[in-house]
Amino acid sequence: MSYLKIDHVDKRFQRGTATTEVLKDINLVIGKGEYVSVIGHSGCGKSTLLNIIAGLTPVSAGAVLLEGKEVNSPGPERAVVFQNHSLLPWLTVYDNVALAVNKVFGRQKSKAERHDWIMHNLDLVQMGHAKDKRPAEISGGMKQRVGIARGLAMEPKILLLDEPFGALDALTRAHLQDSIMQIHAALGNTMIMITHDVDEAVLLSDRIVMMTNGPSARIGEVLDVRLERPRKRLDLVADRTYIAAREAVLKFLYERHRFVEAA
Ligand SMILES: Nc1ncnc2c1ncn2[C@@H]1O[C@H](COP(=O)(O)OP(=O)(O)O)[C@@H](O)[C@H]1O
Ligand SMILES: [Mg+2]
Repeated sequence: MSYLKIDHVDKRFQRGTATTEVLKDINLVIGKGEYVSVIGHSGCGKSTLLNIIAGLTPVSAGAVLLEGKEVNSPGPERAVVFQNHSLLPWLTVYDNVALAVNKVFGRQKSKAERHDWIMHNLDLVQMGHAKDKRPAEISGGMKQRVGIARGLAMEPKILLLDEPFGALDALTRAHLQDSIMQIHAALGNTMIMITHDVDEAVLLSDRIVMMTNGPSARIGEVLDVRLERPRKRLDLVADRTYIAAREAVLKFLYERHRFVEAA
């Protein structure tokens, strides 16, 4: 079913008289509840694509449609979690989430309901205990948890994640991956995640969208990850489907579309 449709999207950036074509003819249909990862080498245009879906960056051609309606500005039904925890440093964990909740549900929910909803989302990412802390007092992994809680608290149709675990150490990253899998299982929401980590993409995704190198990056291949859920990372190490999926992505990235560093 077509829930989100990316329809013949091109993106060009103009700098003075020079034009760079970053994305060329991107077509993708995502179903409700799907977990889709976008993987590709650095600079190919992954964040640009996510920002287009978020409505933060306008397209040069084509369109993005959510439930048949064109998306061309930001909205709470498409919440974004960025790599660099974008929490407001002067607000507590609670108030960072409250800001989003009040904005989206200020009129619909009573004060008590909003409080319960804020706590519900903080508990979902296991951050209820740190509600009164400020961002400077918590770890990077905890900040990302709060960022995810803030995104989820907007009750978005789609949660957009731009390398959400990219800045974290391996163990913290694994914990957060497990949390996001649990949340996805519990809520059944649609998630689009950018990553450059092959294992992360295979572990979390229903489908992996592989992008070619830029300029004029396209979708090279889309891989279905046919692994049962719930997925357990330890069980997958020796799973043939897992190994095959991993190999397919690695081959795409390191044989067919090798990264060539710009001079
Ligand atoms: N606002 C902008 N103006 C001009 N060029 C941009 C802008 N944003 C991104 N780019 C260029 O688009 C390309 C893709 O960037 P990006 O989407 O951030 O890649 P990725 O997330 O895959 O690493 C890069 O070459 C980058 O320099
Ligand atoms: Mg990026």
